Amino acid sequence: MKKSIIYISVTKNTELLAQTIEKQLSDVIYVGAPAEEALEADVVFVGFWAQAFACPQPIKDFLAKLDNKKVFLFGTAQLNQTLGQHRVSVHAGLFQHAVVQL
Ligand SMILES: Cc1cc2nc3c(=O)[nH]c(=O)nc-3n(C[C@H](O)[C@H](O)[C@H](O)COP(=O)(O)O)c2cc1C
Repeated sequence: MKKSIIYISVTKNTELLAQTIEKQLSDVIYVGAPAEEALEADVVFVGFWAQAFACPQPIKDFLAKLDNKKVFLFGTAQLNQTLGQHRVSVHAGLFQHAVVQL
């Protein structure tokens, strides 16, 4: 089963997640920014960071192109600050089908 990992990341938090996911997978055909090539996979891992309480537009545009794919969303956000330290939250979830054979 072919997999692709597309993500966007500015300060590399989401990129670190993408790299970590990639290490756990086999048959990965594409890793990087949203691209048509990624659509050839059966399972698409989509990573993004919270931007102004929303998903960045390039990711929304990519998600709109997905059809009949298993999609695993992951992302990071800086939801709060504790004692002056920035805490980055990590979120992930599998959509469309509950089980994916990795
Ligand atoms: C312009 C900007 C807007 C952001 N907006 C939010 C937000 O609305 N909610 C939130 O929880 N984090 C927000 N963040 C924090 C980022 O989502 C968080 O730092 C994320 O891990 C960055 O991912 P990256 O390192 O992959 O770029 C914002 C950061 C920036 C720079």
